[in-house]
Amino acid sequence: MENKKIIIAIDGYSSCGKSTFAKALAARLGYIFIDTGAMYRAVTLYAMREGIADRPQAVVDALPKIEIAFRFNPESGRSEVYLNGENVEREIRRIDVSNRVSTISSIPEVRVKLVALQQAMGEARGVVMDGRDIGTVVFPNAELKIFMTADPRVRAERRYKELLAKGEEVSLADIEKNVRERDRQDETRAVSPLRRAEDAVVLDNSHMTVEEQMEWVDGLLKKLL
Ligand code: DC
Repeated sequence: MENKKIIIAIDGYSSCGKSTFAKALAARLGYIFIDTGAMYRAVTLYAMREGIADRPQAVVDALPKIEIAFRFNPESGRSEVYLNGENVEREIRRIDVSNRVSTISSIPEVRVKLVALQQAMGEARGVVMDGRDIGTVVFPNAELKIFMTADPRVRAERRYKELLAKGEEVSLADIEKNVRERDRQDETRAVSPLRRAEDAVVLDNSHMTVEEQMEWVDGLLKKLL
């Protein structure tokens, strides 16, 4: 059954567990997992460090100097994102990066560059890719498309616990505001807005464990592989 390599596209709202789900699914199938949000975050981090995050044209001009890659870390069991050769996996999850990433990801030239990179990464198939436009723009022909959603309050609580565990000082109210604001920006931006592909299957995981989500997806995979 694992001989047939397919592309699995996972899109949906921020902080609804897309990466956790995608990573578990990729491990189950022996597929590569690609977190495309990390790529937009890495470009955002670059722009913040250069002090150009508020100047879209300066970000566009800097694009040739930005190199993004993933390298597998056996310790964490996941591919981590590198910005010009530096591991930035931790830094890109900071809340100040989260607050700016929607703006940077709405710059058309940024999207063109990252989408091309994502398509190259999926060329060999056997990938689970998560993001906002994977089933609609990056791989419109993906064999399996899943659109994930969860209650905004539940999503904020999940991210809050994650950040607390990492020792970040944040308030639940701020996180919920950030989650709702990113939903709004992701859904209303002019280029590749977040929307469900017509052929995507919806997964609302507000009250589901990761195991329950795996059982659910197994049912779909049985028909495909
Ligand atoms: O999945 P995430 O929350 O780490 O994504 C960070 C941001 O990147 C998100 O607010 C929207 C943007 N993004 C995007 O525009 N397209 C993607 N394919 C993935 C993420």
